[in-house]
Amino acid sequence: MYPVKIGILKLPHFIYNASGIWDTTVSQCLELFDTKYCGAVVTKSATLHENSGNKYPKYHFACDHYSINSNGLENKGYQYYVRSVRGTLEKPVFYSIGGFSNADRAEMIAMCSKILDPMCSAIELNMSCPNLGCVGPAYEPHLLDVALEDLFQVVGSIQVTFGLKLPPYYLIQQFEDIASVLQKHMHHIDYITCINSIPNGMDYDVDNDRPIIAPNDGYGGIGGPATLPIGLSNVSRFAKIFKERGIDIKVIGCGGISSGSDVYKYLLAGAAAVQVGTHLWKNGVTVFEEISIEFDKIMKRKGIQWI
Ligand code: DHB
Repeated sequence: MYPVKIGILKLPHFIYNASGIWDTTVSQCLELFDTKYCGAVVTKSATLHENSGNKYPKYHFACDHYSINSNGLENKGYQYYVRSVRGTLEKPVFYSIGGFSNADRAEMIAMCSKILDPMCSAIELNMSCPNLGCVGPAYEPHLLDVALEDLFQVVGSIQVTFGLKLPPYYLIQQFEDIASVLQKHMHHIDYITCINSIPNGMDYDVDNDRPIIAPNDGYGGIGGPATLPIGLSNVSRFAKIFKERGIDIKVIGCGGISSGSDVYKYLLAGAAAVQVGTHLWKNGVTVFEEISIEFDKIMKRKGIQWI
């Protein structure tokens, strides 16, 4: 096991699930909880009330290289997760907060911040869902700034470890501008997770001559191995900028991990921890042990001590 500290939380192991994967029901979350090499549980991005999300078929992962999804924030409402999935000192829970507006997010976070135990809980704010038919604030520096400004004005300081799930960015100027927004709010932010699914993907069902998923005219978020280079570049860019500017925010890697060497690459890029999405979705919770054993072999081969 490779422990890590994020905010004030101690995780027994630095590999765990990506939000939205194996975490929509309590029984799925408990399965993650009981999986030794899954170092934390991240819950499905939640809305104020239960939401049925988009129509089916809304995801597809038959191909080895990528998955496509347009789930549409199907979830049971944030109170379901907060009440029924509890972190422990041995394994914390990250509650992913989605929501449809700044007001929704402020209400959920204010409530969570009041009732969660800071020693075993965190909040991961997700303003980068690609499937809602409108652009989330995290895609654009000014919108992100306004959303965070609003949030901290309503909620004040958040009592639990707090992070943001960010979308992929592509241009150097975008990284610089987003980093400036994060720098402005850095006293509230413990970590960022890079990256969410790559928005606006398309795939076709050749047997039926139509898009492979039904919602949003077939456009959806892309995950899986094809996203690894973009995930690595996003972690690497932010880690470098944070170091240059002395910004004390950890970077958590997510995107395309399906082996121990993928995990190792994220560490080279500067990640403090990593999350597994599509590979977990396709293969189930045994992936944590498989990936961890592969990673352990790399560390031993290289003679690297974990600190
Ligand atoms: C959904 C997809 C995402 O990539 C995300 O970050 C949040 C929600 C979804 O479609 O439910």
